[in-house]
Amino acid sequence: MAEHPAYPVGLRLTGRRVVVLGGGQVAQRRLPALIAAGADIRLVSPEATPSVEAMADAGEITWERRPYAEGDLADAWYALIATNDTEANTAASAEGERHHVWCVRSDDADLATAWTPATGHSEGVTVAVLTTDARHRDPRHTAAIRDAVVEGLRDGTLVAPHRRTRTPGVALVGGGPGDPDLITVRGRRLLAEADVVIADRLGPRDLLAELPPHVEVIDAAKIPYGRFMAQEAINNALIEHAEQGKAVVRLKGGDPFVFGRGMEEARALAEAGIACTVVPGISSSISVPGAAGIPVTHRGVAHEFTVVSGHVAPDDARSLVDWPSLAKLTGTLVILMGVDKIGRIAETLVAHGRSPGTPVALVQEGTTAAQRRVDATLSTVAEVVVAEEVRPPAVIVVGEVVAVGPHGTV
Ligand SMILES: C[S@@+](CC[C@H](N)C(=O)[O-])C[C@H]1O[C@@H](n2cnc3c(N)ncnc32)[C@H](O)[C@@H]1O
Repeated sequence: MAEHPAYPVGLRLTGRRVVVLGGGQVAQRRLPALIAAGADIRLVSPEATPSVEAMADAGEITWERRPYAEGDLADAWYALIATNDTEANTAASAEGERHHVWCVRSDDADLATAWTPATGHSEGVTVAVLTTDARHRDPRHTAAIRDAVVEGLRDGTLVAPHRRTRTPGVALVGGGPGDPDLITVRGRRLLAEADVVIADRLGPRDLLAELPPHVEVIDAAKIPYGRFMAQEAINNALIEHAEQGKAVVRLKGGDPFVFGRGMEEARALAEAGIACTVVPGISSSISVPGAAGIPVTHRGVAHEFTVVSGHVAPDDARSLVDWPSLAKLTGTLVILMGVDKIGRIAETLVAHGRSPGTPVALVQEGTTAAQRRVDATLSTVAEVVVAEEVRPPAVIVVGEVVAVGPHGTV
């Protein structure tokens, strides 16, 4: 099962009950921030370190000198479970789960429902760094990132201007295949400076959550198009916002010019006399196979790769693809938007000369937490897609490169 990343959030704890179980070193480290947050803290622990005891003496926390007992979490909003008794920690976790109380656990982060980020502060901003998922947990690394950011902000080596610099007009930004780290530096900068972002369903949607609240984020799929085509309505929305002097980012999946209708938008903007910048993106056609361990070329195996749209079937009059000729190529075929039609495509390729045993891989939601790869051959792919319930978006790779891999012998 793919592990999902933790969801970061800022808890506003003023006046709200927080229960801390165990008065040792962990509590000592965590309590100051909870006190600073104004939480109503109840510590339950037979003992406490001198510093924790001092907090109780100063009235910053309420201390009940006893072990954990069932019911302690009943009125808590949040709990820190940090006793040195695993059984008590487990029982408290179970209680937290029943009462829907988010619980941090000092003895086993895998069993916790919340994790504490490495935090630091700079000019009214809290920097909080969290590991993405349990497999990559490395507290030293997160603390080092926190230190680098906070120190960089303090000493000016990291520049985060308060007033945004705006570039009027529209930037057509290729957002890459989905992983937010796979957008270009330029794309990310333009996104940070945008007033309006019109985004597709594919691409780095996680980046949208990072945008400040004043940025208007528009889902391209939801732009009403009435008497226009959907694309025309998107073009009109781009023009409308840009004409209001706003910095507009049209965030697209992959590269804007690979089956992305980017040039249609660039033309509409040119006709309206609006400045347009194009920022290339990492196309899913190369990066998604790569993320699944498939090189689109490999020395001695494939000297070419062809990227094809599979959105219409080979025998459809609207198809512009010469499938019989593609069947005669020996290199790699990368098919986008082809999940629905792969059966007919495979049939056509085999009918025109490609071997039925040619390996095929389908990579669904590549570079995201939900990425999965399903393997087949040209003769089995139609069945495999159904049996494995492969769904778009997926990139389909046909050719011997599928069998290469880091440990492969091909
Ligand atoms: C309209 S095309 C846009 C392609 C995009 N401009 C690019 O360069 O990647 C959409 C198709 O790209 C492929 N695709 C895009 N992102 C993907 C991803 N993360 N995983 C798998 N396939 C993806 C799928 O074949 C999907 O149906």
